[in-house]
Amino acid sequence: MKKPKKIFISNRLPFSIDLKTKSIKKGSGGLVSALLGVNLEDPFFWMGFETDIESAKKIKNETPNIIPHIRVNPVLVDKKTYDQYYDGFCNDVIWPLFHYESQHAFFKRSDWQAYVACNRIMADEVLKIAEPQDTIWIHDFHFLLLPKMLRQGNSNLKIGLFLHTPFPSSEIFRQLPVREQILNGMIQSNLIGFHEHSYLRHFTVSLKAHLGIDSTFFKAEVGDHDLHLGVYPISIDVEKWKNNSLSENVLVKSQILNEKIKIPFLILGVDRLDYTKGLELKLHGFRRFLQKYPDLRGRVSLLQIAVPTRTQVPSYIRLKKEVDELVGMINGEFAEPGYAPIHYIFNSLSEDELLTLYKRADCLLITSKRDGMNLVAIEYAISQDKSNPGVLIVSEFAGAASLLGQALIINPWDEDSIAEAIKSAYDMPVFEKIKRVKSLHVVLSQYSATQWALGYLKDLEAASSRTAKSPVVRLEAMNQYQSLDLFQKIMQAPKCLLVMDYDGTLVGIKSLPEFAILPNNLRTLIYDLGNYFSILIISGRDKEFLDEQFEDCDVTLAAEHGAFYRTGYEPWKSRVSSDIQSWFSEVKKVMKAYSETVPLSFVECKEASLVWHFRQSPTDFASFRAKKLDEELQVGLANQPVSVTIGSKIVEAKAVECHKGSFLKWILEHENFQDVLTICLGDDRTDEDMFKVLDQRGVSIKVGPGVTSAQYRLAGQEDVISFLKEVLNRKQADSKQNKIILHKKNQDFFKPQSIQF
Ligand code: UDP
Ligand code: G6P
Repeated sequence: MKKPKKIFISNRLPFSIDLKTKSIKKGSGGLVSALLGVNLEDPFFWMGFETDIESAKKIKNETPNIIPHIRVNPVLVDKKTYDQYYDGFCNDVIWPLFHYESQHAFFKRSDWQAYVACNRIMADEVLKIAEPQDTIWIHDFHFLLLPKMLRQGNSNLKIGLFLHTPFPSSEIFRQLPVREQILNGMIQSNLIGFHEHSYLRHFTVSLKAHLGIDSTFFKAEVGDHDLHLGVYPISIDVEKWKNNSLSENVLVKSQILNEKIKIPFLILGVDRLDYTKGLELKLHGFRRFLQKYPDLRGRVSLLQIAVPTRTQVPSYIRLKKEVDELVGMINGEFAEPGYAPIHYIFNSLSEDELLTLYKRADCLLITSKRDGMNLVAIEYAISQDKSNPGVLIVSEFAGAASLLGQALIINPWDEDSIAEAIKSAYDMPVFEKIKRVKSLHVVLSQYSATQWALGYLKDLEAASSRTAKSPVVRLEAMNQYQSLDLFQKIMQAPKCLLVMDYDGTLVGIKSLPEFAILPNNLRTLIYDLGNYFSILIISGRDKEFLDEQFEDCDVTLAAEHGAFYRTGYEPWKSRVSSDIQSWFSEVKKVMKAYSETVPLSFVECKEASLVWHFRQSPTDFASFRAKKLDEELQVGLANQPVSVTIGSKIVEAKAVECHKGSFLKWILEHENFQDVLTICLGDDRTDEDMFKVLDQRGVSIKVGPGVTSAQYRLAGQEDVISFLKEVLNRKQADSKQNKIILHKKNQDFFKPQSIQF
């Protein structure tokens, strides 16, 4: 049997072509460095974008010699679309927002469309080569829509997503105009990985706030699959860096550099010239150090490597100007003949050149304002000579800080904190430096890029097999219905009972319950369906509301989850026999007290049930109070004939007879329903009770996302209408063809005279 493939996807490929020299060079950034360090048992595919056809060819031809363990596969995209996607949306919207720099975010709808288009281009290319059971590992914020697109194209793929940036606090994320689309794209993965626990925590808060999805830190229930979540701190190829740092070549170069750089204490900075790296904070911190410790001027210099990046994006152009000026200003202030406080290189260096600098530098200073991980810090620590190491100073806002307990951790926003850390590094006795570096080596040696990838891929494998629940058939496109046995079943059944929930199924959820009135065209549709089906509308609503909506419809209504029912134009009847008085007024009092403390929440009083609504209240606070209310009622009402549940933005206390499942069961047990096909549609948890009763006896259709025991799924409430229309059209066409004359509505077998409720 053919072995499933592993396909990695990132925007940037491991190599690009220098358009001036036409030579092949390593792609910039930590993502490329880390993935290049991954060695799996079998070669893996790596797909990424390229805009130049000749470069794409060169990359494809030359990379097998450089990295035989990776099959590089460039995907061509036209330059204009790419620029809008990459400069416009990725780097001018997501990047700043995800790094808490919303003042740099500039959303343009056309850039968003390019982002969608580029995700689609990548999805199509992946689907061309991906086979069922292949593993697709998507990397970073450039492809947050890809999981959904791939899932739609091939539901059997194992889809992983790893975010190499932070995931911001929900208060920042909510500023993203397309936040729901982004989350909906991401959640179709089987596993989403983050560098750090706080990023995962923020993600779960946004999931709840924008999609209403509950999750733990391990898992979220999304539609018909479980989305698994995890924290996987990335690393480098530790062994390679250790060995290279001892290689002859590097040792010789270090020697030469030592002779060139005469300064007693060299601080090194290596960052892409990105506002997230806090270069201006570093420069201000260093200036403060020089101000505070004048004796050390002439003895301490900063060598800053600023790697050019995203040079077309306006914020990066402005940043370059700011940094250039700041370097000039500080040098102007503190330079002396033979002494330059800051050496500044605006260029990228090769790995060997970097390594040589790491070895020479007495200190590495990282002042990121936000940084997904920061591999430079790890590379520096690993490259240190254990008998005479340098000191690592790291911002607490870099993900790497969570692994680097023995570094000096600073708050880069405090220039005194930077100045003091530099002073501590300068004064640090060698034995302490050795102790710290040894301990860093112990921790970092437990991690490696390959172990990181293996750990993630193992979890992805497990997540994908665990999520393969019994499939729920999606009723997505009308033309798809043709092939479904569902329609044959409906058409062939001599008698059908159509059971439908109201809110969220027939009518969309509205901000206030009273706004959810039945539109006229839907009333007509239900009326026409009544020619072919017995119709039962079952809802948590009270009798009066249902009466108003279905005033002139000859349908059966069940109010308060089946506690009361009305067939055709008959009066309402009650199924309630338990003692409501024993709990009703007490619960009402408690719920009223809650609504007084939670803004915009209110109590709905019905005959056999009470509902505390908090749809419009502040989400976090109201959800927290809802849990408390639920607990309080569960304990207080333990011996009463009442059930308490938390639903979608409600807490409900209802008499035991208010149960859609028991109502449907009661109906179906009647002899008139023995040979009737029941089709049941619902969106809520209470509708699941009906699906369970129905089991294989009928057709159950879940509306919208969420875990379900239904056999079929419609994406949302709007699709219910299309589905019902399709059913009606077919029935009408069938009666025409078979010349069936409709004498009267097909409600007879539902009437009280034929069925004794
Ligand atoms: N790097 C490089 N040449 C340079 C500067 C940096 O190859 O001149 C590499 C560096 O070795 C590291 C990566 O670029 O592996 C930067 O990764 P990091 O996680 O620190 O930051 P990112 O650029 O991804 O934000
Ligand atoms: C960060 C991102 C990567 C990106 C890298 C370099 O590490 O997480 O996805 O590749 O920066 O940025 P660039 O825009 O040059 O690819």
